[in-house]
Amino acid sequence: MLWYGHLPNRQELSTLETRFSREHVLPNQVIGFLKGESKVADPLSALQTSVSILGGLGSRNEPSLIDSSIGLTARMPTIVATYHRLRKGQEPVTPRPGLGHAANYLYMLNAKPGRPEHVHALDSYFTLLADHSLNASTFVARIAASTLTDVHSAVVAAISALKGPLHGGAPIYVWEMLQSIGKSENAESWLRDRLQKHDRIMGFGHRVYRTEDPRSRILKELARQIVDPSLFELATTVEDTARKLLREQHPERPIDVNVEFYSSVVLHAVGIPPELFTCTFACARTVGWTAHIVEQLQDNRLFRPDAEYVGPEGLTLEATPPGTSA
Ligand code: ACO
Repeated sequence: MLWYGHLPNRQELSTLETRFSREHVLPNQVIGFLKGESKVADPLSALQTSVSILGGLGSRNEPSLIDSSIGLTARMPTIVATYHRLRKGQEPVTPRPGLGHAANYLYMLNAKPGRPEHVHALDSYFTLLADHSLNASTFVARIAASTLTDVHSAVVAAISALKGPLHGGAPIYVWEMLQSIGKSENAESWLRDRLQKHDRIMGFGHRVYRTEDPRSRILKELARQIVDPSLFELATTVEDTARKLLREQHPERPIDVNVEFYSSVVLHAVGIPPELFTCTFACARTVGWTAHIVEQLQDNRLFRPDAEYVGPEGLTLEATPPGTSA
């Protein structure tokens, strides 16, 4: 729907599924890169550079924008799973034809099919996170695309923006917070301490929403169904306590739970290690990034905001402070 602008009929869906199955596989150049980098690079950097390599390989054939988008979306989870297994000293697992996108990701990570409820939760996560209008990374993708660069390069730029903890880098910190709090009875003192130090509570707040992020309600329900009850109880206590304390601190500005809070709990429950949370977000968001790129290029104009210069004027060489070069 995001790429073509309409929901597929059965035939179109089946064609897309077949293409995903065919295109999940990675070229040897990417596997070779991941073998070399698996000990040194962080997961998101390895993913980003793999996307760059794929772009370099694909540009010779110049497929259509949507073809590139489908191929890249199909391969993202394969890159992450391959990197993860190599890092652990395990053989990469070839995607299994016939498995859906989320199911294949879990299969490639663990070398065995995921439990149906885990596949359903990850599939829902992929759907919920696929697009979200002009968040920072999508905006970056559109700006890059507006220069008429290729799809892969625009996605490489988007991944750079996703990486930061104020955007897609947040869920690992949510997970670390839950681990650090440990028990529900610790939640209030832990959170008060952080707020007194002017730290941000990860998984809370949104640049646009001034209320609960509606995606978080669905993720919370998925979490309730699949996580260990004690973890779910801890997460809901932290959610309620953080909301209360943030209201105390900012009565004028509602700060509520965002999509990252329960994402981290759901991703943990389906067996994704925390260091792959942001990569998994990138796998989901590739659909939205590329759909925005397609849309941008349908009626493109280069983004070029103007800026007002407010710095010093009339400087001369003599005015340069001693010890600095012009
Ligand atoms: N914890 C504590 N205080 C907060 C939080 C938070 N999570 N979010 C905002 N505030 C406070 C700020 O400290 C600031 O207070 P001050 O005026 O006393 O200095 C005030 O609210 C306004 O902060 P801004 O950064 O201007 O608010 P904005 O709406 O621009 O921020 C953001 C949005 C960046 C997401 C912020 O809420 C935040 O840092 N959240 C934590 C990180 C996070 O969860 N990111 C994921 C976002 S969802 C996504 O990208 C998919």
